[in-house]
Amino acid sequence: MPKIAVIGGGKIGEALIAGLIAGGVPPKDIHVANRRPERGKELVEAYGIIDFVDHQQATDGTDVVFLCVKPKDTVPVLADLADFIDNNESDTAVISMAAGVTLKQLEDAVSAGTPVVRVMPNTPMLVGEGMNVVVPGRFVSEEQLDSIVELLGMVGDVVVTEETHMDAVTALSGSAPAYIFLVAEAMVDAGVSLGLSRDLAKRLTVGAVSGAGAMLSQPDAEPYELRSHVASPGGTTIAAIRALEEGGIRAAMYRATEASARRSRELGQG
Ligand SMILES: NC(=O)c1ccc[n+]([C@@H]2O[C@H](COP(=O)([O-])OP(=O)(O)OC[C@H]3O[C@@H](n4cnc5c(N)ncnc54)[C@H](OP(=O)(O)O)[C@@H]3O)[C@@H](O)[C@H]2O)c1
Repeated sequence: MPKIAVIGGGKIGEALIAGLIAGGVPPKDIHVANRRPERGKELVEAYGIIDFVDHQQATDGTDVVFLCVKPKDTVPVLADLADFIDNNESDTAVISMAAGVTLKQLEDAVSAGTPVVRVMPNTPMLVGEGMNVVVPGRFVSEEQLDSIVELLGMVGDVVVTEETHMDAVTALSGSAPAYIFLVAEAMVDAGVSLGLSRDLAKRLTVGAVSGAGAMLSQPDAEPYELRSHVASPGGTTIAAIRALEEGGIRAAMYRATEASARRSRELGQG
């Protein structure tokens, strides 16, 4: 089992740690670095991992370093770690989870030959249902890529792709759980507006979202077909679908994903 450093134990860092531990990584094999010592203590209490305030020390002796800091901090933190990563006995791989930051920017921050991987994760990793889209850098061996894919497989699904797709991937995956949470929030409010208690409205919403997600996950399931099976002629569902279409839900989704992809490109340009 590789020894792992997680630099930045925020939302994505914690989701990764929780998912890896649930997937079988021993907590003592995970180092975490946080700027705020109180955050490190919270993570130690919750997961039993080893915490550091100094991000350089956290990488000592590790095989895989996950950078889970904000995009603007990613290259400076990586540049700061470069010498420490070089000094490790193993060929330590660096995995950036940052939106927008390109492989070229990452590879320029470390010594030539350092294996660097760009990943777009999402927060359902926390419950083992994440999606990680992986782009290997120039110096990542096939064996290393296989072991990174295996590691990320512990926290959900993994897709290896090309870097040109990463802004769209951010829009369709990294940012996307929030779209569903927004829809769920609106459904709960709508249920309350129809006279249901908030508890019942939430329970019904969660059931609909998780049930629909499970159906969509079946092999060969197509969103259009699943939707048309629910919408009988002249029925209640098609009346609701019509209202959603008139409200511009489809156009809003195009605009939302374009905005996310655009922001991802901007983050890469600093
Ligand atoms: N959140 C998502 O859904 C999501 C999805 C896909 C990708 N991502 C990517 O994941 C990365 C992290 O996002 P996030 O939402 O998890 O952000 P976050 O909650 O703000 O977490 C960032 C963490 O990094 C810590 N940090 C910053 N500089 C550090 C340093 N020099 N050494 C150690 N720790 C440091 C911060 O500590 P302090 O609080 O003490 O400053 C904070 O705990 C971003 O690059 C983002 O693009 C996020």
